Amino acid sequence: MNQLADLRKDYTQASLDEGSVCKDPFQQFEIWLNEALKAQLPEPNAMVLSTVGFDGSPSSRVVLIKGVDSQGIVFFSNYQSVKGRQIAQNPKASLLFFWPELERQVRIEGLLERVSAEESDAYFHSRPLESRIGAWASAQSEPISSREALAKAFEDFRQELGPQPPRPDHWGGYRLAPHRFEFWQGRPSRLHDRIEFRIDSSDTSESSNAQRLWAIRRLSP
Ligand SMILES: Cc1cc2nc3c(=O)[nH]c(=O)nc-3n(C[C@H](O)[C@H](O)[C@H](O)COP(=O)(O)O)c2cc1C
Repeated sequence: MNQLADLRKDYTQASLDEGSVCKDPFQQFEIWLNEALKAQLPEPNAMVLSTVGFDGSPSSRVVLIKGVDSQGIVFFSNYQSVKGRQIAQNPKASLLFFWPELERQVRIEGLLERVSAEESDAYFHSRPLESRIGAWASAQSEPISSREALAKAFEDFRQELGPQPPRPDHWGGYRLAPHRFEFWQGRPSRLHDRIEFRIDSSDTSESSNAQRLWAIRRLSP
């Protein structure tokens, strides 16, 4: 434990300023995501998805970002998994990226909805065959008797579905429509930069999140 208490890193690489940050948080996010991709970080596309459990407790796991546009952030999963059932009951969620080599964290909060069947089909059919069979073979989050039982289910589906398996109805995408972003850049002496974007609550128009005005403010580290 002493070792843990002594672990300390000073953050010195970069800064983030409310004057120079993009006015559109999606643009700012894409810049940072591209920098994480360019820096060849291990799994820069991994993000922690937190959902609301059935009893209101938080529930977190890693998923992979598969797309981002002005409507939101997309990932794919099993609609009948624990997270899928939680989302059906409560669509509030947060996403968290941590890119330690860049001394950056991004927090995104919003509401989840399923992407269209066409969007799920397009992504499903771009996946390697084994992953497509796996989507059939894994009743994600359910208990299974053994590793062998999983391997057998995989083989059985491989035989049954052939080389062009359709997308199972229980598998597809979600899009998080954000109402809050926070960009964190580590700085020396723990005086980190935290720039928050929130949808301006005075903007009551019918426009989508993407077209709304974002209020920007600096938060204390
Ligand atoms: C690096 C990494 C990437 C993952 N990507 C996904 C993903 O894109 N979709 C997914 O459903 N699960 C993904 N998982 C597995 C989830 O973390 C989790 O185990 C699974 O979705 C079941 O979660 P649930 O029981 O809370 O529904 C990934 C795990 C790791 C460590």
